[in-house]
Amino acid sequence: MATDDQIDLFNLTSVAETQLPATVDPALIPTDAKVPIPSGTYSGMEEISLHCNQCHRCGLGATRTHAVVGRGNPQAPILIVGEGPGQNEDETGLPFVGKAGQLLDKILESVKLTEADVFIGNIVKCRPPGNRTPTQEEMDACRPYLLEQIRLVDPHIILLTGASAVRGLVGDKRGITKIRGEWIEWEGRMCMPVFHPAYLLRNPSREKGSPKWLMWQDIQTVRAKLDEIRAEQSG
Ligand code: URA
Repeated sequence: MATDDQIDLFNLTSVAETQLPATVDPALIPTDAKVPIPSGTYSGMEEISLHCNQCHRCGLGATRTHAVVGRGNPQAPILIVGEGPGQNEDETGLPFVGKAGQLLDKILESVKLTEADVFIGNIVKCRPPGNRTPTQEEMDACRPYLLEQIRLVDPHIILLTGASAVRGLVGDKRGITKIRGEWIEWEGRMCMPVFHPAYLLRNPSREKGSPKWLMWQDIQTVRAKLDEIRAEQSG
């Protein structure tokens, strides 16, 4: 690929979708948020990871150690979306490997969901300094990568953990307590908003009606939906 072509693409300030080629060469890193990333740009998670690790579509690229793209089965029926990497994730390049991640793994195990059943990613791929909530601008800049991940995984179910995941993907700005446990249909996919595992770590009660108890109800609802989908597919 000629260097001039790359400079042209990187320096675009606004490009009508119609002027873009059907696919963008994945070797070209759309490092400015104004450069669109059309659906179909990437053929796999490795390409997304390559770009994310060189991406500066928002300010988070300046402070990351590793971009965190995902773990699990890239053909999983369930895609789990978190908010963004924390310190452990930034250091390892893997999502949900700290305390919240260990709790997430336990929650999945409790309904016999394994790594084969899920792919885990985040709304923003780079760690917000001090683990602050990602801004709307950061979520918007990173969104095309998530949309590509959703296209590639093609999940039946999307589990949205916490308010940022809900806001970042489906745009619903209501608090998680209001919307958890009810299916949201987004782009023909079933999305289930649930509490973020980090919230459960801060609220350890298991009493009826507590956040942990509600999570247990919600994850069972998700498990039941997966079983229903699999029964439909095999019958
Ligand atoms: N919290 C998140 O939302 N995502 C991670 O990857 C880790 C912690």
